[in-house]
Amino acid sequence: MGERIVVVDDERIILELTSMILRGKGYQIFTAESAEEGMELIERERPAAVLLDYMMPAMDGMTALRKIRDGYPDTYVIMFTGKGSEEVAVEMMKAGASDYILKPFNNQDLIDRLENVLRIRSIEIHNRELIKERERLMREIEQWNLELERRVEEKSRELERAHAEIVQSEKLAALGHLSAGMAHEIRNPLNTISLFVQLLKGGLEKDSELTSYADKTLKEVDRIDDILVKLLAASKRPQYELHMVSLPNIIERVLDGVSEQLKAQGVRLEKEFVSLPPPILADASELEQIFTNLFTNSLYEMKEGGTLGVRLSHDGRWIYIAVSDTGKGIPQENLNKVFDPFFTTKTKGTGFGLSVVLRIVKTYGGRISVESDPCTGTVLNIQLPFG
Ligand SMILES: Nc1ncnc2c1ncn2[C@@H]1O[C@H](COP(=O)(O)OP(=O)(O)OP(=O)(O)O)[C@@H](O)[C@H]1O
Ligand SMILES: [Mg+2]
Repeated sequence: MGERIVVVDDERIILELTSMILRGKGYQIFTAESAEEGMELIERERPAAVLLDYMMPAMDGMTALRKIRDGYPDTYVIMFTGKGSEEVAVEMMKAGASDYILKPFNNQDLIDRLENVLRIRSIEIHNRELIKERERLMREIEQWNLELERRVEEKSRELERAHAEIVQSEKLAALGHLSAGMAHEIRNPLNTISLFVQLLKGGLEKDSELTSYADKTLKEVDRIDDILVKLLAASKRPQYELHMVSLPNIIERVLDGVSEQLKAQGVRLEKEFVSLPPPILADASELEQIFTNLFTNSLYEMKEGGTLGVRLSHDGRWIYIAVSDTGKGIPQENLNKVFDPFFTTKTKGTGFGLSVVLRIVKTYGGRISVESDPCTGTVLNIQLPFG
């Protein structure tokens, strides 16, 4: 079947003539005697081309031409005009006509012009499709680029995190090696000092000034010993016993221990056990140490009250723990130092709390990270694996 062509002319003889010529060439021809009727046909048939008379009563050809070009971009229009109206023809071409034919016309000329217009039309439509396809491909490429960028960013972040973890582990390992040996070496002479001072004290008059000096010396020696014990705790794993322990129970136990302090400081407890993980094989006192140290830090920041949050959940692989507070937060520049041993901003702090937590979390193959904001406070996130 040939292309669909609509012919609009108020002269019946023209309609009959063109129909005959073009049907002979295999086209499907639809005819209309007025522009209005023609518009209806175009709407229904969506023809490839319209042969349109310029001079018609009611709606004139020019108006119809504009309507067709606006409403049906794939329908091309050839105008019929009377002799001597070349100026009008220019107007029509400007308004979007593809060609014009002077009446009366020669049969072959009609066929040639129509074929020519249809050829141009098919090239132009193909072109438009190519352009559309190119635009679609460009958009797809853009999407891919965005996706690639996102993936590169994600990988970079993962690498950064992995790198930070390595640095942390190396710090811990180096510290462990050095401090374990050093602490051990120092504690021996320290014991001797303590022993001799006690002996000296025994030979002094009770409640004398000298006795008080001896007491002060003993107290300082104790303090040094305390620090060394903590240093050892931060760097190497002490004696431990593995049992199946329940994290919710551990948390409750440590919370019990700080309940008086919570009350005294006016701190609200927000406990959210989203899901209760099954027991894990661990040393109970090590796990308790995690919460003791985190709660101690949080309560230190909330002397004027606030909210202590404890969130617990799990999935098939991990147990997730979040301890949050509404304290003053950690300044951005300190965020990657808080797990360093000795790092403290407190006059009486030793800076071991979080490095001990880190060591324990690492021992169990877990992860820890910190988020902080001066407006909302601090969150310590811990992930522990099952088994
Ligand atoms: N919840 C928190 N809010 C604000 N700052 C915190 C919090 N937790 C830790 N920090 C910061 O991290 C530092 C290190 O904490 P960490 O527990 O290791 O040592 P510390 O509390 O200073 O001393 P220690 O725990 O040995 O008594 C703190 O001095 C503090 O500056
Ligand atoms: Mg602390």
